[in-house]
Amino acid sequence: MVVIFVPKESADGETRVAAVPETVKGMQKLSLTVQVERGAGLAAGFTDAEYEEAGAALVDASARAAADIVLGIQVPSADVCAQQKAGSLLICTLTPGNALDSIKALRSAKVTGIGLEFMPRITRAQKMDILSSQATCGGYQAVLLAAVHLPKLFPLMMTAAGTITPARVLVLGAGVAGLQAISTARKLGAVVEANDIRPAVKEQVESLGGKFVDTGTPPDAETKGGYAKETTQEFLARQREILTDHIKGSDVLITTALVPGKKAPILVTEDMRRAMRPGSVIVDMAAGQGGNVEGSKPGEIVVVDGVTIIGETNLPARVAADASRMFARNVLAFLGEFIDKEGAMNFDLEAEVLSAVTITHDGTIRHEPTAQAMAAAGN
Ligand code: NAI
Repeated sequence: MVVIFVPKESADGETRVAAVPETVKGMQKLSLTVQVERGAGLAAGFTDAEYEEAGAALVDASARAAADIVLGIQVPSADVCAQQKAGSLLICTLTPGNALDSIKALRSAKVTGIGLEFMPRITRAQKMDILSSQATCGGYQAVLLAAVHLPKLFPLMMTAAGTITPARVLVLGAGVAGLQAISTARKLGAVVEANDIRPAVKEQVESLGGKFVDTGTPPDAETKGGYAKETTQEFLARQREILTDHIKGSDVLITTALVPGKKAPILVTEDMRRAMRPGSVIVDMAAGQGGNVEGSKPGEIVVVDGVTIIGETNLPARVAADASRMFARNVLAFLGEFIDKEGAMNFDLEAEVLSAVTITHDGTIRHEPTAQAMAAAGN
């Protein structure tokens, strides 16, 4: 019997959980024995009793050491990684660039470390794509957070006290998070503009009722997988010039622009931000990756010249129940990639999905950028 362990997350502010009662049932259909750490789902609104009812055994943290598969939202510390037995799997968001000590511990302990954030962006893998599911929650939450901080109503209101004009929202970077932000802001009644450098985005923005701000497309803007590539400083300077007027006219600015593996591009300089009215709100969703907005601070809310700049780095944790539900469904779909209904594991490292997400295996590092980062850090 393969034993799977679901821990209570230990990172500060992490309220999500990697399995919910619904997916515990699904894991049992794969003939897995499911153990859930007591209190693991409480912060996301799932009780121990619900997990038990779904068929899980409640255990304490020490159960990690005997499990064949350990799930997680965030990568555990090196000490915790080292507790797993050789040959077992750790399935979570590994963020190897920020967690080299943990990667080292997984390598030494001969644990197979799976970074779900490396899931290929192919149609077949969409159901396992945690970046998309969590970005959807993040984009939604960014708009709500902005609405709470904005001293203005979002919708147009015609009242006995006169007409209130709708809030103006500008979204920079319209990938998964940005498109969800556009959709949420529109539902709240805001007038929405958006910008991106990938050519496919204009139509997507317009289909959600947003107006596309065209700053041009750099040559060779997109990777085969649909991601943006790094642009030149000249392109960025021209883009900022065009965006300046739109930023000046916005009450809310939501930035989500990322280039995988690189520092986020600066789209809003201090000068551009100074043009915004006091009371305006910026949510920099890229704050954890270097930021799109000068002056944003990861994990903090700062007010500069009357403009609130929100650098929250874990927006999905603010909608922990549904973010967990979606993450847990992604995990369950991933388990189905290599476990059959009788619970037999066939972990084929040559298979496209498994090969892409496996970072450590049997005492080696299989992910080239991680291997290089480890070597550079003298490991
Ligand atoms: P992301 O989180 O890496 O980036 C967010 C957005 O920032 C992207 O739309 C990117 O084009 C934009 N951006 C980068 N530099 C910029 C700049 N200088 N100015 C303005 N915008 C900039 O991307 P995300 O949201 O994870 O996905 C991007 C695309 O990947 C999707 O729209 C889609 O085409 C593809 N995708 C495919 C999936 C699949 O087939 N399974 C699943 C999810 C995404």
